Amino acid sequence: MATTPWTRRHILSLEDFSVSEYDIVLRTAASFREVLSRGTKKVPTLQGRVVTNLFFEPSTRTRSSFELAAKRLSADTLNFAPGSSSLTKGETILDTAKTYLAMGTDMMVIRHREAGVPQAIAREMERLGTRVGVLNAGDGQHEHPSQGLLDLFTICRFLDPEHPRTELLQGKKIAIVGDILHSRVARSNIWSLTESGAEVHLAAPPTLLPKLFVEAMGLHHPDRLQLHWALEPALENADFVMTLRLQHERMTEHLLPSLREYHQHFGIARDRLKACRPDVRLLHPGPVNRGVELSSDVMDDPALSLIQIQVTSGVAVRMALLYLMGGGSSL
Ligand code: NCD
Repeated sequence: MATTPWTRRHILSLEDFSVSEYDIVLRTAASFREVLSRGTKKVPTLQGRVVTNLFFEPSTRTRSSFELAAKRLSADTLNFAPGSSSLTKGETILDTAKTYLAMGTDMMVIRHREAGVPQAIAREMERLGTRVGVLNAGDGQHEHPSQGLLDLFTICRFLDPEHPRTELLQGKKIAIVGDILHSRVARSNIWSLTESGAEVHLAAPPTLLPKLFVEAMGLHHPDRLQLHWALEPALENADFVMTLRLQHERMTEHLLPSLREYHQHFGIARDRLKACRPDVRLLHPGPVNRGVELSSDVMDDPALSLIQIQVTSGVAVRMALLYLMGGGSSL
């Protein structure tokens, strides 16, 4: 197979990712997924390198997933926890990053509640003439590229377990339902899915899906995106339904009458899925508010839900990203 070179040192956003870059990630992740299903789950690829997780915001799966991915590539890992760090003594974020640089960090995985922090650290690393790679693990409401890529991988691998590739998404209908306004996951997924050729349908109450939101993104493929302020048109004949958590911590005003009412109109329960294609599958980036975005029986049904598979795929995709950023050639 011809190998296309990977040229990115940093992974900060999916906005300018090309179809061939998505395919490199999918192919590379598929190889690592293979490694993970073998007896020996570790490869020596990043031996001697240091991967630092700088999570300035709480996280369960993303942080653990990056840590495990780095360890499975044999890298040394450092974990930063803001509560017990010098940030509490007034150190700036850039100085924290420089401290980890001085310890020999090769790659930084960064999450912050403000949009733009990973980008600022990446710029600083360039300015200092270092070769450190920065990966955005979620910046405010802006983007969450590794989540977008693991969702893409989960969907494509469901469609063809042997050869997950973007081409499989041509003509597929994917509904994204929920708190789109506050969701960095939605933004990254909108970029990756529309670029890959899927038809994306967004559904949410108008307070969580203002028309301006999408117009402001300046999409490369506006024809592949539809907005709905009701669930039914988004679910009709959908191949995949991606639900999003209501982000209480980011809601500064009362945007919803009540959670019960939200569930009634936009929650995914079994009977609502009758409108979708018979082989429809559900995704959710987690954490889930059970009974709000998804009813429990739907969420726990392995014949419907890909949620646990997303988590497993996440490790393989993050191994692929660290491998590519570390200079590995596309697999
Ligand atoms: C998401 C996040 O933190 O952006 N979760 C995740 O990374 N798996 C979504 C969320 O918090 O709802």
